Amino acid sequence: MDAHISDAVGRPDLIRLDGELVCLRFETMKVVSALAAVRHLLDTGAVRRGDTLVDSSSGIYAYALALACHRYGMRCHIVGSTTVDHTLRTQLDVLGAHLEQMRPTADLKLDQSRRVARVREILRDHPDYHWMRQYHDDVHYLGYEAVAERILAETDGGPLVLVGGVGSGASTGALAHYLRKRSVDVRLVGVQPYGSVTFGGEHVADPEIIIAGIGSSIPFGNVRHDHYDTVHWVAFDAALAGSVDLLRRYAVFAGLSTGAAYLAARWERGEDPGRTVLFIAADTGHRYVDTVFGRHREAARVEDLAPRQVRGTDELVLPWSRMSWNGSPAPEAAVPRERGGGRR
Ligand SMILES: Cc1ncc(COP(=O)(O)O)c(C=O)c1O
Repeated sequence: MDAHISDAVGRPDLIRLDGELVCLRFETMKVVSALAAVRHLLDTGAVRRGDTLVDSSSGIYAYALALACHRYGMRCHIVGSTTVDHTLRTQLDVLGAHLEQMRPTADLKLDQSRRVARVREILRDHPDYHWMRQYHDDVHYLGYEAVAERILAETDGGPLVLVGGVGSGASTGALAHYLRKRSVDVRLVGVQPYGSVTFGGEHVADPEIIIAGIGSSIPFGNVRHDHYDTVHWVAFDAALAGSVDLLRRYAVFAGLSTGAAYLAARWERGEDPGRTVLFIAADTGHRYVDTVFGRHREAARVEDLAPRQVRGTDELVLPWSRMSWNGSPAPEAAVPRERGGGRR
């Protein structure tokens, strides 16, 4: 029996969809990460019960941190982007987390940098608050160790292709790191939206809306570029086709970053027969009912989609490109001026 709802919500499901294709399905992905991070901060005396934890979030981290704060008796202050929806806002309110939501802006970069500026202002006024820095502090890697152990146990330590959207980089980076530490042969595949600086795709814009939670317009310290073997860039329409197909074919109702990861995973299965291909489903489909699932009749058939194989980011094209990354370092624009964390 679980001692708190966060244990139940945080525990992912491993679902074999079809032969080697496996889905690591979270209800809300960052709960395991936030729980372990807060526990670590308490254990090491970096924070004490009753302290206030602050961070900026575009969605699921806000909920994860609020649950961790509820569990460990902490206060929670979130600077949320415009993508925090009514359901989450209401839950945060009842949970006692303080949400400051930024004014709507069509410019993602402006939204991200305004949120960071607001967090700095809050810290200036409240120097006793602890800034979680989910994008930079590798304390957010810790919680994924238990997930890696579970994957290892359920796949008998066989070779894996691990596919997931890269936002902060913690989930894909940590799972690959902890699995490799246990001698599992992991090929790591990162999934990006167009327009993201993280792997050098900022010069190609997706005319449709961005995929929530993945990609970035500013550099993140938690992305370990040298962990990745392959990167896919997936446009909104192609991710929509993936999300709809995943629900139709396997009855898995998950979000848009999952649709993109599923599409990439299907492709990678053909590239690497014999390996288990495990893709990450970071959230459920509820947030995407109108923008994605309501448009299911327009979805392309996934069989008709294929990535353009490119040799460099200068060759990227919509709606889907794939590139061998081969553990290359971060592109210049994706190197943070100050590195956070430092535990790895
Ligand atoms: C829906 C969704 N998918 C994927 C990710 C990427 O996860 P990570 O930040 O661990 O790279 C996020 C992160 O916010 C997300 O919200």
